[in-house]
Amino acid sequence: MTAGTEPARAARLGRPLVWVGEVGSTNDLARLLVAAGCPEGAVVVAARQERGRGRQGRVWVSPPGGLWCSILLYPSVDQPSGLLSMAVAVAVAQTVEQFVPVPAGIQWPNDVLIAGRKVAGILIEATGPALVVGIGINVGIELRVLPPEVAARAGSLHLFAGRPIEGRAVLDVLLDRLADWYGAWAAGGQAVCDAWGFRDLLRGKPVKVLQPGVGIEGVADGIDHEGALRIRTAAGDLRRVVAGDVTCVLDPERQSW
Ligand code: BTN
Repeated sequence: MTAGTEPARAARLGRPLVWVGEVGSTNDLARLLVAAGCPEGAVVVAARQERGRGRQGRVWVSPPGGLWCSILLYPSVDQPSGLLSMAVAVAVAQTVEQFVPVPAGIQWPNDVLIAGRKVAGILIEATGPALVVGIGINVGIELRVLPPEVAARAGSLHLFAGRPIEGRAVLDVLLDRLADWYGAWAAGGQAVCDAWGFRDLLRGKPVKVLQPGVGIEGVADGIDHEGALRIRTAAGDLRRVVAGDVTCVLDPERQSW
């Protein structure tokens, strides 16, 4: 991205900043903070999660060495929430690139990958007036502590950097980038679509969307202004898949990265 397309700086995030050693899920602790009246920008960080969760009801294994955090946002603008998840993904991708000498891509809707390996995931949950933005980044975890099927597709920043990386340093960059892209989303979202599209790992690739009772196959054709995935079917139709409602996978036999 060129300097000219950088978004305007928005709200400061990270006040207050709550650090805990161990928690079930930082998203659950963040929900409690919302109920207690904590303001926008509050952040919860845990050294370890016992019951970290991912999208689509999956477990998110969260051993020590990762950055597991949740940020409270209280959006006051009428922008598509699906696109906010894209804005967060761009912020995370830019963050990890500050620490590794390899470009980061995004697999729809918001998985951040380096060299084909997932290094970060995002789970946004609504509670009352707030959105809890849960972000997990594999900063310095050992892949051998992950279940084999997860380790086979996961990456950790320190392995790409070839050196230890401080979680606190990653958090500081993340909160800055997040403030920027939250502002870009609130300002209309075109910059988010552009930046997301620049990192889109699926565009032009054959994809299969798995959803109970629905099967869509075709070629990924980027996202629309609401963050929905566009898929061009073999019949030439353009189908629209809404963020958060589906699991999107590459056909493993045709996976090319
Ligand atoms: C995914 O890729 O499926 C999303 C993973 C999100 C994991 C983060 S870690 C911090 C926050 N707390 C959770 O329980 N989940 C999110």
